[in-house]
Amino acid sequence: MAVLVTGGAGFIGSHTCVELMESGEKIVVMDNFYNSTPAALDGICQISGRGFKFYEADMLDMPAVDKIFEENDIEMVIHFAGYKCVPESVKNPLMYYSNNLRGTFNILETMKKYGCTKFIFSSSATVYGFPEKVPVTEESPLSAINPYGSTKLIIENLCREMYVADNSWTMVLLRYFNPVGAHPSGLIGENPVGKPNNLMPIVIEEALGKRDKLEVAGNDYPTRDGSCIRDYIHVMDLAKGHVAAVKKARELDNGCLAYNLGTGRGYSVFEVLDTFQRVNGIDLGYTIGARRPGDAAECYSDPSLAERELHWKAELTLEDMCRDAWNYAKNK
Ligand code: UD1
Repeated sequence: MAVLVTGGAGFIGSHTCVELMESGEKIVVMDNFYNSTPAALDGICQISGRGFKFYEADMLDMPAVDKIFEENDIEMVIHFAGYKCVPESVKNPLMYYSNNLRGTFNILETMKKYGCTKFIFSSSATVYGFPEKVPVTEESPLSAINPYGSTKLIIENLCREMYVADNSWTMVLLRYFNPVGAHPSGLIGENPVGKPNNLMPIVIEEALGKRDKLEVAGNDYPTRDGSCIRDYIHVMDLAKGHVAAVKKARELDNGCLAYNLGTGRGYSVFEVLDTFQRVNGIDLGYTIGARRPGDAAECYSDPSLAERELHWKAELTLEDMCRDAWNYAKNK
């Protein structure tokens, strides 16, 4: 029996593959390298000292997805594959709905065909929209504020409805906060294709001297230092959260459960920049820019449900995140 990891060469996927193998799981990985490279697969093997079956396949290619289930005994699926760039989704909603939804339908339909009923979904804190209150709990109101977020919410709703219709399913919806960092070996990490949009990849570009400016997107928010506050979580902690979710899914006969994967602690943009500079001995030379449209002032998790039910807790610090992200980027 194996765990199928879709999008396993991606940022969170590759780190999760390492942790799954280190915890003794057998994995099968599929990826179409749309937003990742084969080098990540080599990194996973090097770190874990183990191999795994890999399929270069697109989730939109139904026969290719079918072949994976035909050729392997898939116990459960961790579904990472999908487009994830918010501004791109705003420009091209159809592209996002078409890929992320159709791909997920294909995976779920194939699981159904082969009697595989355990599904772990890579969701996001984006499903909380503009949080009315922080920290956000799994009971906080859900809303989509961009097409990327809509695809996450639609898939979450689909999972809930599929479970209600047929309670042989076990669905685990993992809502990630802001994943950053890299494996401490420096062998795998984040590789945004094209122009990065997220804070840490932008900081890295600046540190590498690959961009002309780094701007704090607004210093007039109602927060302790005026910049936005987010719940940054080390990708290794996040990867361990998936191992915990696999154990939970295995233990349950059925269910549809959502968990926040965050640290429960918010850091401001200034705090991230200061920590990055201090830990890595780099002067970033940033300036203050305008607010970024669509940014909530504060978003951080209450991760206590995951702690109680998954027996998982984020352990790494912002210092670890900044150090490991830079360690990967500078040696790449
Ligand atoms: C973004 C997405 C979210 C997605 C998450 C994945 C948006 C609106 N939201 O979250 O849906 O799940 O990434 O990690 O894109 N910042 C700067 N200067 C910059 C870039 C960012 O100050 O050049 C600030 C932002 O204002 C924000 C913080 O850094 O306060 C983090 O930004 P980012 O890394 O893009 O993450 P989110 O916006 O929280």
